[in-house]
Amino acid sequence: MTKHILVIPGDGIGPEVTHWGKAALQQIATTFNHEFSFDEALMGHAAIEATGNPLPDETLAKAKQSDAILFGAVGHAKYDNDPSLKVRPEQGLLKIRKELGLYANLRPILLFDELLHASSIKPMILKGTDILFFRELTGDVYFGEKIRSEDRNSASDLMIYHKYEIERIAHKAYEAARQRRKKLCSVDKANVLESSRLWRETVQEVAKQYPDVQTEHLFIDNAAMQLIKDPKQFDVVLTGNLFGDILTDEASQIAGSMGMLASASVGDGTGFFEPIHGSAHDITGKDLANPLASILSVALMLEIGFGLKDEAKAIVNAIDKVLKEGFRTNDIADSTTNRYKVLGTAEMGKLVLKFLSQTTFTNS
Ligand code: IPM
Ligand code: MG
Repeated sequence: MTKHILVIPGDGIGPEVTHWGKAALQQIATTFNHEFSFDEALMGHAAIEATGNPLPDETLAKAKQSDAILFGAVGHAKYDNDPSLKVRPEQGLLKIRKELGLYANLRPILLFDELLHASSIKPMILKGTDILFFRELTGDVYFGEKIRSEDRNSASDLMIYHKYEIERIAHKAYEAARQRRKKLCSVDKANVLESSRLWRETVQEVAKQYPDVQTEHLFIDNAAMQLIKDPKQFDVVLTGNLFGDILTDEASQIAGSMGMLASASVGDGTGFFEPIHGSAHDITGKDLANPLASILSVALMLEIGFGLKDEAKAIVNAIDKVLKEGFRTNDIADSTTNRYKVLGTAEMGKLVLKFLSQTTFTNS
C-alpha cells in the first residue's frame, strides 16, 4: 500500500513523541512491505513563532493533500496564565478539525493487563474494561459564538448543536457498537440544557435504526461518577465536544496514564491521529514523555485510516510485550516497587521498534 502521511509535531513533548510514532510507521512499512512517504508541517506555538499564525495556510494545504495526519500536541506555558493573548496555539488545532470536517473523535480506552496497577482505581474494578468513546469534535460550545461585553465584565460561549451534527456522529457510534458488544451510552445534560435535549431526542431517533444495539442515556454528572465506580458497564460512549473532552481525560486514568491514550479524528476526508495528552511543558525536553500514546495513534491510523488490521495489531502486540517484560516510562511506573525497569522516551521508543521489527507476516 502506498500512503502519504503529514507529520505535525507541534509543541512541548509533541516532537519527542511524534518522532517515535513516525519511526513505528517506517518500521511497519519495512515489515509489511508498504510505501509510506512523509512530509512535515507547523501548528500551534511553533507555527505562531515562525509565521504569526497557529495554522498556516501551507499546513492546511499539505493536510488536505495527505492520506493521514500524525499529530503531536499544541500549547505553551506562556499562554496558560495569560488569557488576554488573542492568538493562541489551540486555535490551530480547533481550526484544522473544523477545516478537515473531523467531526468524530474516537478515543478507545485500551487497558493493558500489565497496567492494572498503574491506575489509582482498584484492579478488580478495572479488569476487563474496554470502552470506545465517540466525542463530537466540530460543534458545541467550542465553536458557538463567543461574546465579551464592552465593559469586559461579562462573557458568554454559545453551546449550540444542529441536528445533522448529532445524527452523523450517532450513526458512526452505532455502527461501531454493532461491531462490538452492542451497547451504546449517550451522555448529555438534558435535565438542564436545551442543546442536550436536542441531543437526546436525536439519538433516540437514530437508535430506532439500530434495534440490535442497547441504548442508554446518562447525564454527564452521573456518567462521570459511573466511569470510576464501574467502568466495565460501558461499551460505546457517545457524547458532545465539551463533555467528551472532560470524560476522556477522566477515562485515561482507567488506562493508567494520559500517556497511554490515542485518538482518531475522522469525518469525510483525511483522518487525523493524535495522543489525547497535551504539550506537557513541565516535562518537555527531559526525555520523560511516554511515546506509547503516539505509537498507539499510529496503530489507529493503520486500522481506521488505512484498514490495515494486522499492522495495527503488530503495534499493540509490541507494546504489550514491552510492558510484559517490565519496561515502563515514568508515568506508568509504580514508585512503590522496583519491579519495573523505568526508561526514558527514546529508550522506550527504541524498544517498541525492536519488538516491532521482530514481527513477521505470519504471527499477526
Ligand atoms: C483535546 C484537547 C483540546 C480540546 C485542546 C488542546 C484545545 O484538550 O484534544 O482533548 O479541548 O479539544
Ligand atoms: Mg482534552
